[in-house]
Amino acid sequence: MPTILVTGGSGFIGRHFCWEAERLGWSLIVLSRSVEKARKVLPSSAEIISRLDEISSDINIDTIVNLAGEPLADKRWNESRKKQFFVSRSSFTDQLYEFFRHRTEAPMRLISGSAIGYYGPGSAPVDESNSAVDGFSHKLCASWEDSALQFKNLGTRVCLVRTGIVLGEQGALAKMLPPFRMGLGGPIGNGEQVMSWIHIKDMVRVLNHCIQSEKLSGPINATAPNSSINREFTATLAKVLGRPALLPMPSFMVRLLFGEMGEELLLQGQEVIPAKLLQSKFEFKYPNLTEALQDLLK
Ligand SMILES: NC(=O)c1ccc[n+]([C@@H]2O[C@H](COP(=O)([O-])OP(=O)(O)OC[C@H]3O[C@@H](n4cnc5c(N)ncnc54)[C@H](OP(=O)(O)O)[C@@H]3O)[C@@H](O)[C@H]2O)c1
Repeated sequence: MPTILVTGGSGFIGRHFCWEAERLGWSLIVLSRSVEKARKVLPSSAEIISRLDEISSDINIDTIVNLAGEPLADKRWNESRKKQFFVSRSSFTDQLYEFFRHRTEAPMRLISGSAIGYYGPGSAPVDESNSAVDGFSHKLCASWEDSALQFKNLGTRVCLVRTGIVLGEQGALAKMLPPFRMGLGGPIGNGEQVMSWIHIKDMVRVLNHCIQSEKLSGPINATAPNSSINREFTATLAKVLGRPALLPMPSFMVRLLFGEMGEELLLQGQEVIPAKLLQSKFEFKYPNLTEALQDLLK
């Protein structure tokens, strides 16, 4: 049976993907730095390995879902963390390529992570055909994508999933919830920055859609078709929770508390249109923020 190799399978998106793959009866190998930790959160049918050379030569890896990467929003950025962001994405993907380059059978498809940070900040809507504004997030995403694109040399179909803010029980929403639940939430900065988000269930469906749509390749924006500016997002969140959202966090405080990370991830935004998903007839289960948040917070 063809097998899917997942990197970053123990993470927020990865584990949701793995449980869905298990439900669909797909065969999974998950590469993790900690087999023990990964086993606790993954289906028992998934084989968990800590080194690529544990994959025996007679196993045909049909598909790779490549999500591994040092978390960006955990703490302030410094030079060593920034290097780690690159190493854990680009160099890690280079190693994947080196491994598969020497195998007899190349994977048919690589679904590789990226982020809407690729486009850089801006107020005008962008789709996959737009060029990017330079900055740290752009450089990181572009470098990760370049590493993944090497797989084209093997005849592999490569999808680069430029992911928006994934809403679920982990990630950005989980970080926002405690102050909002206490009625201490509010807009960030001037509240005008666009937040292009996607519900975790749609995110998993996007990964599956990329696997199954043989004509899809290149950059694919994984964002709901209706993004919101931060002010609307926070007002909707507060409304769904039945709490006020009156306490704004001014830009200077964001910069003071979070430095460059706060500037790139909280104060800047981009309105990203999922043009290729819509063209390929992908149907979002949660195209609107209110329904997405109601589903997640019910
Ligand atoms: N969640 C979002 O809103 C969002 C938005 C845009 C892009 N993305 C990108 O999509 C990918 C998956 O996101 P996620 O939210 O699921 O991330 P996550 O929860 O932080 O999980 C990432 C996984 O990558 C592995 N990893 C972490 N640090 C690593 C390192 N230094 N070297 C090698 N592997 C490392 C870990 O797996 P092991 O511990 O098992 O090795 C971890 O489970 C990430 O690369 C992220 O940047 C996420």
